[in-house]
This record gives sequence, structure tokens and C-alpha cells, in this order.
Amino acid sequence: MTQNAPSAPVARVPVVEARHATVRFGAFTALNDISFAIEDKADHGEFVTIIGPSGCGKSTLLSLIAGFLRPTSGEVLVKGLPVTGPGSDRGMIFQQYSSFPHLTVVENVMFGLKIHGRKLGLDAAAQKARAGEWIEEVGLAVHKDKYPHQLSGGQQQRVAIARSLVMEPQILLMDEPFSALDEPTRLEMQELLIQLWSRTHPAIFCVTHSVSEAVYLGERVWIFTQVPGQIAYDIRDPIPPTVGVPPLVAQERKQFKEAVYLVTEAFRRVSDGQIDPLRSQGAVVGTRGETQ
Ligand SMILES: Nc1ncnc2c1ncn2[C@@H]1O[C@H](COP(=O)(O)OP(=O)(O)O)[C@@H](O)[C@H]1O
Ligand SMILES: [Mg+2]
Repeated sequence: MTQNAPSAPVARVPVVEARHATVRFGAFTALNDISFAIEDKADHGEFVTIIGPSGCGKSTLLSLIAGFLRPTSGEVLVKGLPVTGPGSDRGMIFQQYSSFPHLTVVENVMFGLKIHGRKLGLDAAAQKARAGEWIEEVGLAVHKDKYPHQLSGGQQQRVAIARSLVMEPQILLMDEPFSALDEPTRLEMQELLIQLWSRTHPAIFCVTHSVSEAVYLGERVWIFTQVPGQIAYDIRDPIPPTVGVPPLVAQERKQFKEAVYLVTEAFRRVSDGQIDPLRSQGAVVGTRGETQ
């Protein structure tokens, strides 16, 4: 293969790739032979939402990408290199307890910056300025000196988002980040997340158990099989981009309702065990349901 030929298009290494990744816990297989590649598009990380039956390996997949877990066989790569542990290029947001309870909002947001500041080329003043910008960005400026227990659930998740995004990760991993929130707060957070993503564009893998959340947020919606987990459906662009469109407005649109219907039906087939996993990488299902 010719490399660096002036006229040849530069093939970018995928930002995240899994090659036949399998995870076993003893005799139990949690994830089975997962393969995918998320393109490293300049200035545009893809937003992937993941839904599937409980216990099908969704969190396990995030742990592999985060570097908390290694595959039993196969590989998981970030920018072409096998993942060997956590790194500041990947942020992780959980459903709860993401922030340090003994630190204030500003201290929480500063935490990673203090550790990695030098590597990022930021001195103390620049770190403080960047933390302040992100606290502002997530709407917590007036709460910056409070501790997590003094904040509502939605505000706590805003802290978690600011803590992650302040590091400008290329990859953001979210495990049911809004599941513990009430519906209005959840919708607010979805809108905030889409806005922030459209500005900084990390690649996002977001696990959710809400079909409408998956459809609203995701450029790709993955539906997992029952355990051992595999990707049963990879639905691309279920609806037009939702940047700047509040969830309640998007949800009223015909395309949104059709997409929710399609994804719900696919999820039901998966839950009934009717669906074989997609083995060929890049196999997708359009919003009309046929495999392309
Ligand atoms: N550390 C572990 N040891 C043993 N089994 C585990 C471990 N982590 C997860 N599992 C099992 O693997 C399966 C997938 O788990 P998980 O990825 O957490 O599912 P999901 O997030 O889709 O609900 C589940 O059956 C779970 O009980
Ligand atoms: Mg889980």
C-alpha cells in the first residue's frame, strides 16, 4: 500500500474500533465477538446511543473502551492503539456518584485539570479559567462553591458533564446518565448534551434504556441482542439532526414518532430473541426498517 502519496486520500484510523471483542466472566460470556469502527471524522465525533435488554453487556462495552476491563479475546483500539487502561482522552459519566462528594463544584471540575494540566499546557490560571468556562457552559456558575449534596440530581449530572468535558476528551462514555432524573430534568439534560456535543464534538457512546432518548440523541442507535451481547441493529440517522431542537418539539414530529416505532419494534424482536446479530461490519438498518 502506498503511504503519504500526495494525491491519495488520507485514511484516518478509526477513533474507536472493536475487533472480535469477547468478554467472559468465568464460564459466562457477557459480550460475544463484537466488531465495529467509529470513524475519526475531523471536528465531528459520532454520537452513538446504545439500548438493549438488561444485562446484555452494554456497561461491559463501555468499560472496555474506558480501559477498566480488557477483552478476554479480540481487541479494542482507540485511535489505532489497543486500550490498556483509562486515559484523559476518554471521559466517563455514570448514572450516579460521578463527582467527589467532599469537593465543591469548582474543585470537582478542576480535579482532572490539576492532574493533567501540564500535559495540556495549562498553567494554574488557565486551568481556573477553563474550569470557569465549563461551569458557565453547564449553567452552574451560581452554584460553583456548593458541594454535590447541596445540588439537585440534574445539577449533579451537570457537574459530571463539566468535569468530563473540561478535559476536552475525544471520547465520552455515558452509562445511563439521565436515568435517575425526573422527566423534565431529563429532557433539559438531553438538550444540553446535544448543544455541548455540537460545540466540542467528542465521539459519544451513551447507554440509555429510553428509546426516545436514544432516538433524540443518537446519530447511530445500536440495539444489542440479549446476553451474550452483540450489536443486532445499527440504525443510522434515525431522525434529522436535533441540534437546537428541544426534545419536546422533536418528539412531536412525524419522523421522530416513526423512528421511535421502528426502534421499539426492533427492541421487541431482540427481547423476544428473534434477531440474529449483525455480523458484517457496517450493516445498517434505515428508518424504514430494511437492511441496506
Ligand atoms: N465483574 C463481573 N463478574 C461477573 N459477571 C459480570 C461482571 N460484570 C458484569 N457481569 C455480567 O455480565 C452481564 C453484562 O453486564 P452489563 O454489561 O453490566 O449489562 P448491561 O449494562 O447491559 O445491563 C450481566 O449478566 C452481568 O451480571
Ligand atoms: Mg449497565
